[in-house]
Amino acid sequence: MEKKETKHQMIRQLRKDEKLPCDLLLLADELLEAINKYIFDSDIYVLEQENKVIAVYVLQLINKNEIEIKNIAVATDFQGQGIGKLLLRDAVCKAKGRGFRTIIIGTGDASIKQLYLYQKEGFEVFDVKKSFFIDNYPKPIYENGIQLKHMIMLKKELK
Ligand code: ACO
Repeated sequence: MEKKETKHQMIRQLRKDEKLPCDLLLLADELLEAINKYIFDSDIYVLEQENKVIAVYVLQLINKNEIEIKNIAVATDFQGQGIGKLLLRDAVCKAKGRGFRTIIIGTGDASIKQLYLYQKEGFEVFDVKKSFFIDNYPKPIYENGIQLKHMIMLKKELK
């Protein structure tokens, strides 16, 4: 089990027999069906504060060189305190440690804060999955008053 301690917080891998933090996962991905497509063959990392899971990220292997952050979420009350950045850096560190060359993340075209955070952490746009949120979700999703249409794919090379 990998562990990393911060002040009063700890990032650790969720064991297969533990309950999934569905409330958190659903903050990043609106559909449980969509989450179910990747969650069972991914590694799930949680951040705990005083024995309570307050944040999560999910890593799925794409191929021997690439790994993807499929889901990253911080409980609403804890957002804006640097935890998202901490998780992202932890994911990059783990991917590097496991010998991957590239780490990938995808987000909505209207997800301004996420696009800001990922690019600030060195991720670069390399692809756009056109109409992803229109074709794969039954209802329109809005962020920042804008309907999500396309998935913006970003990657960071791990040197
Ligand atoms: N608007 C603009 N920028 C903001 C805001 C805001 N409301 N809040 C924080 N920021 C900035 C911060 O200032 C910081 O930038 P800085 O380093 O220049 O100061 C940067 O964003 C990161 O802030 P954190 O506090 O580390 O981010 P947070 O802990 O809130 O986590 C996250 C970010 C994961 C996106 C969180 O807000 C969240 O869980 N959102 C809901 C779920 C979600 O959208 N997940 C990502 C979907 S994509 C995917 O899962 C692959």
